[in-house]
Amino acid sequence: MNSLNRVILFGATSAIAEQTARQLVAQGASLYCVGRNRDKLMALIDDLKVRASDQQQVDGAVADLTDSDQHALLIDAGERALGGIDGVLIAHGTLPDQQACQSDAALTRQEIETNALSVINLLTLLAIRFEQQQHGVIAVISSVAGDRGRQSNYVYGAAKGMVTLFLQGLRNRLAKSNVDVVTIKPGFVDTPMTAELDKGGPLWAKPEQIAKGIITAMQKGKGEVYLPWFWWGIMLIIKHIPEAIFKRMSL
Ligand SMILES: NC(=O)c1ccc[n+]([C@@H]2O[C@H](COP(=O)([O-])OP(=O)(O)OC[C@H]3O[C@@H](n4cnc5c(N)ncnc54)[C@H](OP(=O)(O)O)[C@@H]3O)[C@@H](O)[C@H]2O)c1
Repeated sequence: MNSLNRVILFGATSAIAEQTARQLVAQGASLYCVGRNRDKLMALIDDLKVRASDQQQVDGAVADLTDSDQHALLIDAGERALGGIDGVLIAHGTLPDQQACQSDAALTRQEIETNALSVINLLTLLAIRFEQQQHGVIAVISSVAGDRGRQSNYVYGAAKGMVTLFLQGLRNRLAKSNVDVVTIKPGFVDTPMTAELDKGGPLWAKPEQIAKGIITAMQKGKGEVYLPWFWWGIMLIIKHIPEAIFKRMSL
């Protein structure tokens, strides 16, 4: 079991990360929270401090994570504040407007930057640290959308697919250094990201449910985890639809 006593959260103000942070603090963890929106971040840190004991550290920094020049400094600051790093969760992301991306190459590039390249930059730096320290767990929230490109969201899907594939290789490399790399693949989650979508029905999950799954997967050092679990079966079917049929469908 991986201990999660000192954890850095990137994209800490995301609804899923916030719930993860609360559950981690309830379990006694110290946290370093990185978020883009200052007001939301300060509100989160204040809330976590109220829930934490005197022995727990809760600190953080404001950063736009597409600014990759900041990444090494943020990791250093987190490590200093916590006195070491047992785990990292990378949670930031955006859900692109697929239609808008189709007529705007710059927007498409920007979405790939946010959802994939910024994550890969962080992972590259984190991997060096974790390889040196020979313990710990790195988790990233990817998505079921990264399992197969679909007409309704393939910009997002391509970015998440890139992250998923990168993590597969990284997991393979870091296994030799006693470091676990966890790919989290949620389905539909009721958060601000999905505010525009019709919600309700058995496929929708709450962020607190996903947070619980994330923490368990990090503690157990799982590889790829579908949350909730039944998305494994749904994506198995979707991945196996022959391309000749799939291209005529409107998914
Ligand atoms: N909700 C779903 O159905 C679902 C499904 C599968 C995977 N996911 C993934 O789960 C993760 C968390 O999303 P969520 O559902 O919790 O949505 P959310 O509440 O909208 O969170 C997204 C977070 O990403 C942050 N962010 C976006 N761009 C950033 C940047 N350049 N630098 C720093 N932070 C940035 C946002 O910060 P601001 O507050 O500043 O905008 C926000 O805190 C994402 O990676 C998402 O792709 C979500």
